[in-house]
Amino acid sequence: MPGVTIVGAQWGDEGKGKIVDLLTEGADLVVRYAGGPNAGHTLVIPNKTGGHDKIVVRLVPSGILWPETVCVLGNGMVVDPLALSKELDELVGKGVWTEGDKRLVLSDRAHMILPYHLLVDGLREKGQFAVGTTKRGIGPAYEDKARRNGVHLGALRDLARMERHVARALDAWAPTIRAMGETPPTPADVVAAIRPVVDRLVNLLDDGSRVVDDGIRGGKKVIFEGAQGTLLDVDHGTYPYVTSSSATSGGACTGAGVGPTAISRVVGITKAYLTRVGGGPFPTELNDETGETLRRNGGEFGAVTGRPRRCGWIDLPALRYARRVNGLTDLIVTKLDVLTGLPHIDVCVAYDTPHGRVRDLPINDLDVAKPVYERMPGWTERVETARSLGELPEKARAYIERIAREVEVPIAMVSVGPQREATIPVRNLFA
Ligand code: IMP
Repeated sequence: MPGVTIVGAQWGDEGKGKIVDLLTEGADLVVRYAGGPNAGHTLVIPNKTGGHDKIVVRLVPSGILWPETVCVLGNGMVVDPLALSKELDELVGKGVWTEGDKRLVLSDRAHMILPYHLLVDGLREKGQFAVGTTKRGIGPAYEDKARRNGVHLGALRDLARMERHVARALDAWAPTIRAMGETPPTPADVVAAIRPVVDRLVNLLDDGSRVVDDGIRGGKKVIFEGAQGTLLDVDHGTYPYVTSSSATSGGACTGAGVGPTAISRVVGITKAYLTRVGGGPFPTELNDETGETLRRNGGEFGAVTGRPRRCGWIDLPALRYARRVNGLTDLIVTKLDVLTGLPHIDVCVAYDTPHGRVRDLPINDLDVAKPVYERMPGWTERVETARSLGELPEKARAYIERIAREVEVPIAMVSVGPQREATIPVRNLFA
């Protein structure tokens, strides 16, 4: 069975973009199944003058760089039509995608992020109950989906019908918007704002579930690309400091429209340390010089918002939890190079909680739990040129082996630098 799901095993930003890009070389279909423009992958592509250009994609899977790969925006996503159209402009401008190319498929059952979702997200983030969202309208769009006021992308096929759906949603949002001191838009305003991009997007709409099912049944290699990470999942994350979608592997089924039998491997991506953006508990956070070093060496600034990421030590109970709730079959460790030069590395192996010491992640007591660390020696040798585990400095290898042993998941790959080549392959994920 060819389906491989890639999930973030931490709080997002684990380097899924590079890994999906690498794996896409052997894949026919890449399907994003959750989230929206709150994710951000930086793509580095050759330009006409022999240099490189950077594009940040937020909605389109990074698989778009491979000319034979079909990319699907699954029904579990929330899609801002205006943000998507801007992204398409950039991809056309850089020669990555040609207008109308059906290599990009938009599920007609994905929900739209509309201007009132952005308005509400932004206004709430000014208030005392802010959770530090990306202000891209994600939460309010998923709220509408759950309370049956959402508007499918497929509604773009019939704007009069879309206007009626929008009117129902605005009727529910209007008191909230007014209470926050703003005037809600009219349904006609909303439709008018979207109208310029309608033809372009309607052309790409399809039944995403059928496209993926055809791929799976046709023996194609399919990657289900998760966004954000396990600890931001609406069910399994550090609620309420989470995103509003199913970032874990279960979301791949509902968010792409396939059953669990379509997926044979679940690959968790973890950094060699830990970061988080936005509010919420982070017990192994380092508010000191070491945290600053990780941020600087790892370039830990949000791809979407530019916010500095909070940095800390790796959390093995959290990775064991990620193994459990995702059913991980493989683990990929990224950004090992960022740890080079640290005199020692503290590894969180357990937690002291009001109920005693635990090896599991105390997901409901994270704000009071105290990490229990074991200290491992650091290394000073550069790791970027290693292409096998044997070529790593002994202490770096010991660190990787310890992670695999404690999480009880085999390592499939180690990333030792941002470039495609700076990678140690260990297991073939499509075998
Ligand atoms: P939202 O997804 O914009 O609603 O934000 C909810 C929480 O998820 C905030 O703490 C965000 O910082 C976090 N978040 C959302 N997307 C990402 C991501 O791609 N990487 C890291 N954190 C994210």
